Amino acid sequence: MRVAFVGKGGSGKTTLSSLFVRYATRRGPVVAIDADINQHLGLVLGVDPAEHPPPLGGMLTEIKDYLRGDNPLIRDAASMVKTTPPGRGSRLVRLGDPFFPSCSVEGVSLMVTGPFEEDDLGVACYHSKLGAVELYLNHLVDGPGEYVVVDMTAGADSFASGLFTRFDLTFLVAEPTRQGVSVYRQYRDHAAGFDVAIAVLGNKVHSPEDVDFLREHVGDDLLTWFGHSPAIRGMEQGRPFALDDLEPAAHHALATMLDRLDGQPKDWPKFGRQAAEFHIRNAHAWANRATGEDLVAQIDPGFVYGPAVAAS
Ligand SMILES: Nc1ncnc2c1ncn2[C@@H]1O[C@H](COP(=O)(O)OP(=O)(O)OP(=O)(O)O)[C@@H](O)[C@H]1O
Ligand SMILES: [Mg+2]
Repeated sequence: MRVAFVGKGGSGKTTLSSLFVRYATRRGPVVAIDADINQHLGLVLGVDPAEHPPPLGGMLTEIKDYLRGDNPLIRDAASMVKTTPPGRGSRLVRLGDPFFPSCSVEGVSLMVTGPFEEDDLGVACYHSKLGAVELYLNHLVDGPGEYVVVDMTAGADSFASGLFTRFDLTFLVAEPTRQGVSVYRQYRDHAAGFDVAIAVLGNKVHSPEDVDFLREHVGDDLLTWFGHSPAIRGMEQGRPFALDDLEPAAHHALATMLDRLDGQPKDWPKFGRQAAEFHIRNAHAWANRATGEDLVAQIDPGFVYGPAVAAS
């Protein structure tokens, strides 16, 4: 199961995703992906920066060559773009595929896109680094009890492609403020029509009035909430931290989140349809021009997404 953490800058995406990945290891293997411009997830999980794995954003060509395998519809890495879907002959990946560099921390495999660097200005945009994540998710066959958790960049970057449709569930972190809920509305409106499942996590909630505020503005999309947590503050201050230090209410919230994710139906046919849909959009918007090819022809109508194909 795949889940994204999105929301306003500073709302707590990295914090809550770091808690969630630790918690999810109780049920199954977990891959955490730091896909934010400012790479903080490793830090919050306690990874020494020197131990960070090589960033996915720096190995796009290798990733494309690996994933296209011997799919005859994809000529070479240069004609593979972030939305190019798998087809017959493509290499599908399972959780823990050693091709994708990761480091292990507290039972979690951490992968990183890499930061947005000075050198990137003008020549690349952060979207191309996110493209590595989109390609990975497009080729990933994950089963129940396996978790991929992506800490996303603030704002609507994931709408620049089909990335926001590559998840079984999206956790939108919202503080009980007008700005917090306006990001929710923006996300919900963008996602409308794509059948994207969103659950709102209230964060830094101080009072029952805060909960009322969230309920009033996000309605039934409010799944659970976290108060201001001294344990989280301590973690941020570099004090040793274990999940058991968390307040009982936060434990309860994490359990609610994991149950919600586990209860989400996996819809491979929809996943495949949307992969094709966004690839066609992308091809027409810029990718055909950029590659000088008709990339719509990369879509393999005979390919079926899902576990059956991974097994074969
Ligand atoms: N429930 C909480 N209790 C106490 N502090 C919190 C809580 N949630 C988040 N914080 C603190 O708020 C700050 C912002 O959180 P965090 O970095 O997780 O936000 P973010 O959404 O990932 O931000 P960015 O958009 O910059 O990536 C951090 O200092 C974090 O420790
Ligand atoms: Mg963050």
